Amino acid sequence: MPRITLKNVTKQWGKFIGVNDLNLDIEDKSFVTLLGSSGCGKTTTLRMIAGLETPTRGEIRFDDKIVFSSEKNINIPPAKREVGFLFQNYALWPHMTVTQNIAFGLETLKWKKNDISVRVAEMLKTMKIEQFAQRYPSELSGGQQQRVAIARTLAPKPRVLFMDEPLSNLDAKLRGEMRTELKRLHKDMGSTFVYVTHDQLEAMTLSTKICLMNEGVLQQYAPPLEVYNRPANLFVADFVGNPAMNIVDARAKKLSPTTAEIDFLGCKAIFQANEAFDLNTENISLGIRPEFLPISGHGLLEGQAYSTLPAGMETTVKIKIADEILSSVVFGAIDYETDARIRFNITGNGILVFDRKSGLMIASGRVDVQE
Ligand SMILES: Nc1ncnc2c1ncn2[C@@H]1O[C@H](COP(=O)(O)OP(=O)(O)OP(=O)(O)O)[C@@H](O)[C@H]1O
Ligand SMILES: [Mg+2]
Repeated sequence: MPRITLKNVTKQWGKFIGVNDLNLDIEDKSFVTLLGSSGCGKTTTLRMIAGLETPTRGEIRFDDKIVFSSEKNINIPPAKREVGFLFQNYALWPHMTVTQNIAFGLETLKWKKNDISVRVAEMLKTMKIEQFAQRYPSELSGGQQQRVAIARTLAPKPRVLFMDEPLSNLDAKLRGEMRTELKRLHKDMGSTFVYVTHDQLEAMTLSTKICLMNEGVLQQYAPPLEVYNRPANLFVADFVGNPAMNIVDARAKKLSPTTAEIDFLGCKAIFQANEAFDLNTENISLGIRPEFLPISGHGLLEGQAYSTLPAGMETTVKIKIADEILSSVVFGAIDYETDARIRFNITGNGILVFDRKSGLMIASGRVDVQE
């Protein structure tokens, strides 16, 4: 199983830079998701790794083998990179049944007849398409076709598998189930998965590492919980998490290597960092996840219920305070009257401080509101 390394990979069309100087180390057996909004360069990156798009500059290796190098003039064709593909515009063979579509790749690889039927049955079951086994693609819905495409790609157990939004045509429930199956399949197959999605929840739940891009530029490459808890900058902080992290302007004055006095939302507080930090500006943004704003009758902060969004298991409460609207998430179903007074706290040591100008995260810690 290979490890894939990208060094200074750039893709440029005329003056437009689709992917800008990307460095990435995709470890063996990892499940890496390329995440970002539409047009940020995810598909282009995947296509360059797969060999379907030629980078303008840079180098790509599979283990120690260079598969692309602009300097050394190396460009190994996709078929010789021994990888499986599943692209946004997957196409099934129209003249073959579902079973034949899945079996075809295995026949080409000269699998034994018996092994083929076992594997096809396995894939039909996992992808929940057993009842369509004898149908032709034109007799299936888009989501069903998509599941056949996944089955066909996974069947030969490729050592590297590229998937570009493979669950995009499925409804929410089926998407959830397929996520579970993909995660299991990844473990069972022991292959490296490189997966494209613009869905942050999908990236959070599936990946061993997230590669978050914006306008062709890598923002952060780290395990999901690190991206969630220690976002590298304001872009990442805002992109990951639903409801999004509260970002509040504040002024800060350093008191000691690990503490600062902060003014925000019309109150004063002491920020106690988890580690010593540098503060070169007084203009900061505080990043507060909605789960760190518990509502409590004795809370030190007071606002008004701007709107309440009960979802059953949890409720998002939008709290208006000093011209800001904050999101708080509480467990269970509650419903506040619009404009009702709400008291709440800021808890935990996962509150983040960002340099407002550069957007970079500079510290994490706790906020003690002064009474
Ligand atoms: N052949 C091309 N010529 C010029 N620009 C291109 C070409 N292919 C892609 N682009 C541009 O490069 C950027 C990245 O495209 P890409 O397909 O990688 O985006 P993406 O992140 O996969 O988006 P989506 O989520 O919408 O699929 C886009 O702005 C796109 O318009
Ligand atoms: Mg795309």
